[in-house]
Amino acid sequence: MKNQLLVNRREFLYMTGALSAALSTSSAHLVAQDTPSVRRPLDASSLAQFVDPLPMPEVLQPDEFRPSPVDSATKIAFYRVAMREAEAKLHRDLKPARIWGFNATLPGPTIEARSGQGVLVEWVNQLPPSHFLPIDHTLAGAEPDQPRVRAVVHLHGGRVPPESDGFPEHWFVPGKSSVCFYPNHQDATTLWYHDHAMGINRLNAYAGLFGLYLIRDSVENDLGLPTGKYEVPLILFDRQLDRDGQLLYPVSADPKHPWVPEVFADALLVNGKIAPYCEVEPRPYRLRILNAANGRFFHLAFANQMPFQQIGSDQGLLAAPVTMKRLTLAPGERADVIVDFSANAGDRLVLTSDHLQAIQFRVTQKSSVPVVAMPQSLRPVARMPEADSVKTRELLLEETVDAADNPTIMLLDRKRWMDPVSEDPALGSTEIWSIVNGTDDSHPIHLHMVRFQVLDRRNFFVMNYLRKRELKFTGPPVPPDPNEMGWKDTVRAEPGMVTRIIVRFDGYLGRYVWHCHILEHGDNEMMRPFEVIPAR
Ligand code: C2O
Ligand code: CU
Ligand code: CU
Repeated sequence: MKNQLLVNRREFLYMTGALSAALSTSSAHLVAQDTPSVRRPLDASSLAQFVDPLPMPEVLQPDEFRPSPVDSATKIAFYRVAMREAEAKLHRDLKPARIWGFNATLPGPTIEARSGQGVLVEWVNQLPPSHFLPIDHTLAGAEPDQPRVRAVVHLHGGRVPPESDGFPEHWFVPGKSSVCFYPNHQDATTLWYHDHAMGINRLNAYAGLFGLYLIRDSVENDLGLPTGKYEVPLILFDRQLDRDGQLLYPVSADPKHPWVPEVFADALLVNGKIAPYCEVEPRPYRLRILNAANGRFFHLAFANQMPFQQIGSDQGLLAAPVTMKRLTLAPGERADVIVDFSANAGDRLVLTSDHLQAIQFRVTQKSSVPVVAMPQSLRPVARMPEADSVKTRELLLEETVDAADNPTIMLLDRKRWMDPVSEDPALGSTEIWSIVNGTDDSHPIHLHMVRFQVLDRRNFFVMNYLRKRELKFTGPPVPPDPNEMGWKDTVRAEPGMVTRIIVRFDGYLGRYVWHCHILEHGDNEMMRPFEVIPAR
């Protein structure tokens, strides 16, 4: 092989027939990281289940009110949130784990905003001077001359001016802070904030730097959805722990290049506890579910196969509830779900994700307040006509491998982060992005600042495309799933398929990013800038 870097992973596997072997060797090496001794992984299935009550993240209260940056006559909420190292008890039977959390909690506090009412947040970096997870200094932005500890906060799904969007290079070091303005000019939905620092984002997020951000509005209020204690956030993420109960981030066999292409761990945490339980009344509940994992896709289903209804996706309410028994949630995606426990008084119901048990609901005998019927229509979603698009961009997702078939980098459109901006939509214009997935994995593709709709997915002849850049479809277009028919900001680009999204670049001029939300991929070149330019 002459130029290993340019060999596409799929092509390599195709040539060597190593596909099935590669699929079964995803487990990474768990060896020493910041200590010379080997830290042995804990088998999370040995932990007692459903012994910790589900924690509720604190809802932040404003520290003060300050003049709005866009209208100094209006005072808006101002919050100060510090990123700090702390200890968190992840399970009754484990010693507290070292984590990095917003306000020292895992997950961070929830911020609640009203649509149209801006807020200011001062994100303060009070992290310690050294990182406790294994930095790979060969990755762009994490070179040895860069500070080890850096952070910058992004509001995922927020339509935010570029200077407040948490551009990966706008990180700041311990002792510094950054004030961000979130206008909240968008529909009620479930957003989240998380670190986005160049080259170490996966480590900062794994350490615990994320939290929920809810936007509410009158349309949502008027629906009579469950509120207060009947509205429950479920923030899901997996972690590998060592036998001391400490976070273990896997590393490769190469100490100079410890990056691993994916992390799938066996401890599943909900709101910061492993397999917690939650007492509920026999009535409908609203669950605000977030996949905050680095790389794991969740496939959520009740063990008894009972149905539930999805009422909202990443960017807000669906037109009508979608009844389902299994919910797929890729990293970065959110789902707004109604679960009706009315017929389950006295039952214990387990929500699972594949072979993992996420949480047990313990249904009490009686509901304390009368239950109203759930709405059958929610918020109209006008489908965007393809004819509105002024430009179609064909964007390839690609993985490269070395001679030993280890993934080396992940690329968007065969470009690296440092290459000049190539996606430059005009403000207010509509485009179709055809995401051509030439890899063997599903990649959750996320665009900052905008919301979009999924048009379709379609199988294509991958080899032909990689060699000649010619798109030959091998099947008919597949419409999005019913729960993907609303507004999204993160979409699964399935392997061997072209996933088409339609996007209107409403909002602000300036530089943003689009990337794969598998954080190991985003940290290793599967992230590109895009720039919203003035309309001609
Ligand atoms: Cu959830 Cu660019 O991020
Ligand atoms: Cu985002
Ligand atoms: Cu990816």
